[in-house]
Amino acid sequence: MIPDMGRLVRRGSEEETLLASVDFKKLPRHVAIIMDGNGRWAKKRGKPRVYGHRTGVESVRVTVETAARLGIEILTLYAFSIENWKRPKTEVDTLFRLLRQYLSKELKTLLDNNIRLQPIGRLGDLDAATAKALRRAEAETSGCTGMLFNVALSYSGRAEIADAFSSLMREVKKNDRAGTTVSEKDIARHLYTAGRGDPDLLIRTSGEQRVSNFLLWQIAYTEIYVTPVFWPDFRTRHLLEAVLDYQHRERRYGRV
Ligand code: FPP
Repeated sequence: MIPDMGRLVRRGSEEETLLASVDFKKLPRHVAIIMDGNGRWAKKRGKPRVYGHRTGVESVRVTVETAARLGIEILTLYAFSIENWKRPKTEVDTLFRLLRQYLSKELKTLLDNNIRLQPIGRLGDLDAATAKALRRAEAETSGCTGMLFNVALSYSGRAEIADAFSSLMREVKKNDRAGTTVSEKDIARHLYTAGRGDPDLLIRTSGEQRVSNFLLWQIAYTEIYVTPVFWPDFRTRHLLEAVLDYQHRERRYGRV
């Protein structure tokens, strides 16, 4: 059955045609997105980079609601990497201000769409105001049973794996359970995404064909979809195109 997409899909639009082609029995369960191209999008318009980030928030808003209404179970957005701390302070401050504004303005949309927000990453690196806004949004949406929305902040895949090993070592020490082998399950159990399924589909915008330290452990068998569209232009139509492309692929997990 085609879900109710509300204002996101107008009658007679291209989105409506795309939506009609989606096989809702074969939706990707978990979609991860590397949101890229905000700076280049702004530069093309002769504007400062932060203008791209501001417009990118609108893309986040539309993508989160589209994914939830489609019936995707988990959406993970790469909002700020550990490497991003090296950007100019004014740009970093703007990004976190935009995130705080998003959290206060969009809380109602998250609740109305039964979306649970959960940040992942080295959250101890964040400033007090952002950490507080995230804790509040996480607490207020904790009872939501629909889509899980992971927002990756001060995140890097290698740091996550290192943190998983540190956590595993603490566990071994605490239980006095010295062993000599570590299984894949042991590592997965200590990742920020423990207990969630790995992404089925990874989308990267702006045409760059890189993984950029995102979910390195979890994307072992993930289908990758790269679109030339810059993140501030990404809308419902582009998410539907990515889902349709995914549905035409044959996933073999190393088998013939
Ligand atoms: C990549 O573009 C984008 C980011 C590093 C930040 C993404 C953040 C937002 C859209 C806003 C806040 C987030 C939420 C969840 C509300 P880039 O700056 O690397 O672009 P470039 O490669 O063209 O320079």
